[in-house]
Amino acid sequence: MKRWLLILSLAGNVGPALLAHDVITTRITWDREIVRLINDRCASCHHPDGPAFSLLTYSEGRPWAVAIKEEVLARRMPPWGAVKGFGDFRNDQALTPEQLELVVSWVDGGVPEGEDKDLPQPPKASSETPPARQHGELAVSGDTTLKRAFLLDGLVPATVPDDASFQITAQLPDGSLEPLLWLSHYRTKFGHAFLLRMPLQLPAGTVIRGVPKDSTVTLLPGVPAPATTALSPEHQSAPYSQRPSAGTAPTPGTPAPAGILK
Ligand code: HEC
Repeated sequence: MKRWLLILSLAGNVGPALLAHDVITTRITWDREIVRLINDRCASCHHPDGPAFSLLTYSEGRPWAVAIKEEVLARRMPPWGAVKGFGDFRNDQALTPEQLELVVSWVDGGVPEGEDKDLPQPPKASSETPPARQHGELAVSGDTTLKRAFLLDGLVPATVPDDASFQITAQLPDGSLEPLLWLSHYRTKFGHAFLLRMPLQLPAGTVIRGVPKDSTVTLLPGVPAPATTALSPEHQSAPYSQRPSAGTAPTPGTPAPAGILK
């Protein structure tokens, strides 16, 4: 019965002649490739009690197949809320071209479920706790001049009207301009931090420009890199390990450390 309904919904209004067999033309399945992609890039929001409808199982994901393809191809999902290429962020969750291709083949190939034996462990319930307040955060509202030097590790739109679009830059004392973040149709319910790929040193006197007076953006402090990298691991641990970014400045191209400040 369930299968019959599925075939019906696949076929839409097409005549009964087409109902005789399902048309699976791909080897990509939900149980093997797609569920892993969803767990990795979508489940943090799309789970029961999350900010968006659950997509954890085939029966939940199947009705959304075409929408999933459209949303990822249009780069609307996973939502980012900022213009790409303005600033460089280590927690950008955009799908890779290979992942886009998996989604397209799966949807165009008949949305096969696959076999239970291929299913991964279900993802651990992610508790989306807001980032803990950290020592040394700086709230910016309206153009703001830094009184002291600040090592910038990331930005969090703290209070920003829904659908906000504005460009934040840092004007350094030598007159040069650093792009920081260009919010574009940002929505609070997509809430996430923008973590810089490399911490940025802002000298005293830097002016943070572009945050409207009715909005607040929090600047997250980085931890200065240890003076020497020759220390043995046990010596590096304590003071530098509170945040994954701390101490070990990620080199461009390394994947974002999982978890924190999502
Ligand atoms: C940061 C949270 C978040 C992540 C991560 C996320 N989504 Fe969403 N998604 C949402 C929210 C919130 C909505 C509801 C949007 C709205 O209310 O307009 C949504 C809506 C959707 C919709 C429905 C769009 C429509 O209205 O037709 C689809 C499909 C979707 N998401 C797919 C995905 C896929 C696939 C991924 C992973 C590749 C993903 N989402 C990752 C938050 C997220």
